[in-house]
Amino acid sequence: MTTTQPDMATLITQLTLAEKAALCTGASPWRTVPIERLGIPSMIVADGPHGLRRSTDVDSMITESYPAICFPVAAALSASWNTDLLYEMGQALADEAIALNTDILLGPGMNIKRSPLCGRNFEYFSEDPLLSGEMSAALVNGIQSKGVGTSVKHFAVNNQETRRFTVDAILDERTLREIYLRGFEIAVEKSQPWTIMCAYNSVNGEFCAQNHTLLTDILRDEWRYQGFVMSDWGAVWDRVASLQAGLELEMPGPSSERTQAVIDAVESGELDEAILNQAVERLLTIIFRAAETPKGQTELNIQADHALARKVASECMVLLKNDNDLLPLSGDENLAVIGKAAVTPGYQGGGSSHINATQVDKPLDFLRERAELHYAEGDTTVEHNQLAIDEAIAIATDADVAVLFIALPPSVESEGFDRPHMRLTDQQVALIKAVATANDKTVVILNNGAAVDMHDWIDAVDAVIEAWLPGQAGAGAIVDMLYGHVNPSGKLGETFPLALEHTPAHLTFPGERDTVHYGEGIFVGYRGYEASKRRVLFPFGYGLSYTTFEYSNLRVSQEKFTLNDALTIQVDITNTGAVAGKEIVQLYVHDVESALPRPYKELKAFTKVALEVGETKTVTLELKDRAFMYYDPTYAQWLAESGTFELLVGSSSADIHLRHTITLTQGTPLPVILTGKSTVTEWMANPRAAQFIQPILSVFGESGGDPGALGVDMSEFFKDLPVIKLLAFLGDNLEQSPDAIVAGWLSEIHAES
Ligand code: GLC
Repeated sequence: MTTTQPDMATLITQLTLAEKAALCTGASPWRTVPIERLGIPSMIVADGPHGLRRSTDVDSMITESYPAICFPVAAALSASWNTDLLYEMGQALADEAIALNTDILLGPGMNIKRSPLCGRNFEYFSEDPLLSGEMSAALVNGIQSKGVGTSVKHFAVNNQETRRFTVDAILDERTLREIYLRGFEIAVEKSQPWTIMCAYNSVNGEFCAQNHTLLTDILRDEWRYQGFVMSDWGAVWDRVASLQAGLELEMPGPSSERTQAVIDAVESGELDEAILNQAVERLLTIIFRAAETPKGQTELNIQADHALARKVASECMVLLKNDNDLLPLSGDENLAVIGKAAVTPGYQGGGSSHINATQVDKPLDFLRERAELHYAEGDTTVEHNQLAIDEAIAIATDADVAVLFIALPPSVESEGFDRPHMRLTDQQVALIKAVATANDKTVVILNNGAAVDMHDWIDAVDAVIEAWLPGQAGAGAIVDMLYGHVNPSGKLGETFPLALEHTPAHLTFPGERDTVHYGEGIFVGYRGYEASKRRVLFPFGYGLSYTTFEYSNLRVSQEKFTLNDALTIQVDITNTGAVAGKEIVQLYVHDVESALPRPYKELKAFTKVALEVGETKTVTLELKDRAFMYYDPTYAQWLAESGTFELLVGSSSADIHLRHTITLTQGTPLPVILTGKSTVTEWMANPRAAQFIQPILSVFGESGGDPGALGVDMSEFFKDLPVIKLLAFLGDNLEQSPDAIVAGWLSEIHAES
């Protein structure tokens, strides 16, 4: 059925109040309410972020889902840093949604990884808002390019599973804007997701589902979001309040009680019908847009999508360690293959994103095609099993190389609960150490959705591949990487700390009962480790390759620039090694001097470039005004201050190869917001205002002169003094009251500005 957008205004007048109210709550867990008499179809939704979990019964909450392709999870996808690849994956997801008669894919999940312990970190991209936003936008654009909608989630500040339905995230405005909303803002700006899913939790005292600041003031009025907001499943507490805040669709349905509450609220005047009409218009716009794409008439491209899943996985895995160039293997080695995950790989996470995979490849099967090998399970399901470890030692002792497959158990990492620590299981650690002792050529392949603690064993092994949860086709990608058919090109989208206690959120995660304070502020991830000069195990943006790259010839389009300029930064990258490879070039910006504390550097652009042996390419990165700005709550806006900025180009956040200083000649024009309570420093920072203050300060002694009666430079002594108090110190020598004097000064300043 192809439909075109009806005349909304007419359609809305034709709907009864009961029909409009009914549209604002699901007809079932997975579809919206149809209004047949007016040709309004039902729209079907399904999880999830890395594959279709399309219920076989759209009217039942917990049922089987159709078989579909399980792609790598978001934690893996962001490690690819490849927006083109995510776009391609999005198109395949859309084709599957179309084949499985699904209009909206409930993903991607893009909450910031505040702590490695969040159980759903596997479903989220990064600790950095730019990487999160770019990855999300690429996936959304790919999916939506085929006429299937998305639901970017969970809006917002949903960074833990502990008490996720009731916890209240308390954070300052700057942290909210710069870290926890910025990724969503980029996704809205670059992909206009058809829908956004609000989170369960509260933000600063109000549930997201009825948080007017988030859903209307910011999302609509500032970001000009065009789609509609749906709730997470069960996130609505008060349907009328949530409609007033800007939440269009409550899921799941049905709920006649909720519908009646809306009807009653309109009839009583509690809810302005115009708000209901606006919600219905936003809903119908997407419902009719979705209906324009015929669905359920094609088949899944299972083989093609499985092959794509393998290609995607091969770009996501990160080579963390490769001492003695143990990898790639030559193919002549006799292997000891150890670990249950070689047969039962960790390939996806638990919870609503869990997919009924069409097949799950086994690393052991692929290895048997390439090498003489012995296998031992190394049984990590029980606390300690020495027999299993002894079996592993036995085969490791006789092998040329030992390859360990270690997957975090699903019982440790999932939606619905957080991890208590970052460690592998004790049995896994014992197994790794025992095998590494038996064979000094040991490789560890990890299947996990977030940073794990490796301090027990990392020094004992030669090589480590972070394979994440690589989807159903991950096995082939892993073995391709072991033998060099794939050159590792992934880089970490999250820091791997040396210890949990070092994580910036450690002291406040996951909070106390229903309150969690984001005490580390903007200093999340690498921003925090660098601010506290904490060494880490593996830094944000880190990943090795089988080749090497050289960075040279950094040039910038302008040495001096304004906020209206689009700066281009070019760098030459050369493959100086022996095999072709891909390099992820990262551009960070350092604000040399700022009125408010800023992270030392922040990721502001990146690109991935493929290079043959000996090849040099020039990569071009672009920076616009927001790359230099921070959010200043005093002015309630993003702003950049004039002055010098350092551009840092690196292969990771810790490996900066080229630097260049540029100058912003004119910062963001700011209103004069001085008051009598503003300090001497703040008045002195405004040239016109300083003319009033300087003479007063002189009364107390020349600044920078000999220390006065107090033995200290008075301009230092007074720098944080409110100006009204400075005047008050002059006692009765004033002709007017301090308030009158300040009021006179301000009227002169404002008259001239
Ligand atoms: C879950 C998840 C959300 C998912 C929804 C539907 O509770 O939080 O990500 O899309 O419910 O399954």
